[in-house]
Amino acid sequence: MINGLIESTKQVSLLDPFLLDEFFMDEFHHCNRLCHVKGIIRKGNGLELAGVQLQHISQVTAQAMTRDLGFLASSLVRHGASLNEVSGLEPFLMNISKISQEIPRDNLYSYTVRNPTGKRRRSFTGLDEELLFIELLTISIEEILKLLCLLPGREMFDPESQECAEALHSCAGRLEVLTPSIVTVKRKISPEVFSYKLRPYFEPLQVGGRSWVGQSAAQMPLLLIDWAVWGADCSDTDYRSYFEHNIEYSPAIIRDYQRQQGLTESYISLTEKALKGMSPYRAEAVATALLEILTVLAKFRYPHIKVAEENFSVRVRNTQGSGGYDMEILNLLAEYTQHNRARIKTALRNSCRQLINH
Ligand code: HEM
Repeated sequence: MINGLIESTKQVSLLDPFLLDEFFMDEFHHCNRLCHVKGIIRKGNGLELAGVQLQHISQVTAQAMTRDLGFLASSLVRHGASLNEVSGLEPFLMNISKISQEIPRDNLYSYTVRNPTGKRRRSFTGLDEELLFIELLTISIEEILKLLCLLPGREMFDPESQECAEALHSCAGRLEVLTPSIVTVKRKISPEVFSYKLRPYFEPLQVGGRSWVGQSAAQMPLLLIDWAVWGADCSDTDYRSYFEHNIEYSPAIIRDYQRQQGLTESYISLTEKALKGMSPYRAEAVATALLEILTVLAKFRYPHIKVAEENFSVRVRNTQGSGGYDMEILNLLAEYTQHNRARIKTALRNSCRQLINH
């Protein structure tokens, strides 16, 4: 299932449905740098969206169209123009959303894994920092998608299985990609460049009478890892609404995967129970691998919080991340990561005592 998503993102990245490759290589950056919004409007109107026949458009083409129109639309909004300046843009985004099976605007996937590589790379500014930012997010998403192919699903998850323990151990290894990415951001993308030059392009868009937030790393498929490991039975309403919100912005395959899993109990809860059972030693390998995943996540989340704090500190007060969140959600996720590490550590310690006492 997730393999299908990996394959389709590659296909989308190869497409140039509106023949905009050349425009995105140079003129687009020039327009954005000079706030020359008329140049973007002219290009958008030249696409004659109202005349495009939709019946033969495939899902991947619709996703590539959404990506490219998203770059134009976000630039319009960034320079204070309305989407209505490009004739037919809003209805077109709504119509192709039915084909793409996704929200009627671009998302994190459009900006990263569905973005062409090399010279064809789409970016708002062309700045080295933005290209690096796209690259780091892309590498992380690619690793997480590969990891999801390994992650035991609900049917396969067995706290006493050595095979599950090995799969979870490999997942922890792949998740390690996140920490060097955020360390590189800290070293190479100053809060001023990110907050003043890049962040303004990730504003919400009004489409079909609703506001849709911009590309946010909160839309990463990491959502599903937390969900499986500890989130599925977490009753915190802030966490649950954060999860639901970002799942809605995810590709259909991610949404279907989550629905089909139908998880009601998290892997931590299932493993904790097994560690309290008759043969606790059998669940130790899975418990240790889950602990490894949470440790890797904690190693990413704390430096990430630092980067976000440094960015918020150079912005005007009460601004939000592009996904519409402030520091609270990042702190909440870090706290749950730590809380669940402590849970599984305690359960492991108690199971060892139980073994010694026998
Ligand atoms: C200057 C760079 C960055 C800033 C200022 C930043 C800030 C934020 C903010 C404010 C959020 C909350 C959601 C929102 O409103 O968008 C968020 C979420 C998130 N960001 Fe970043 N971020 C940055 C770079 C990165 C990078 C490079 C990665 C990974 C490679 C990343 C991964 C995540 C993840 C996974 C989330 C979801 C929350 C979590 O799982 O802890 N971010 N980020």
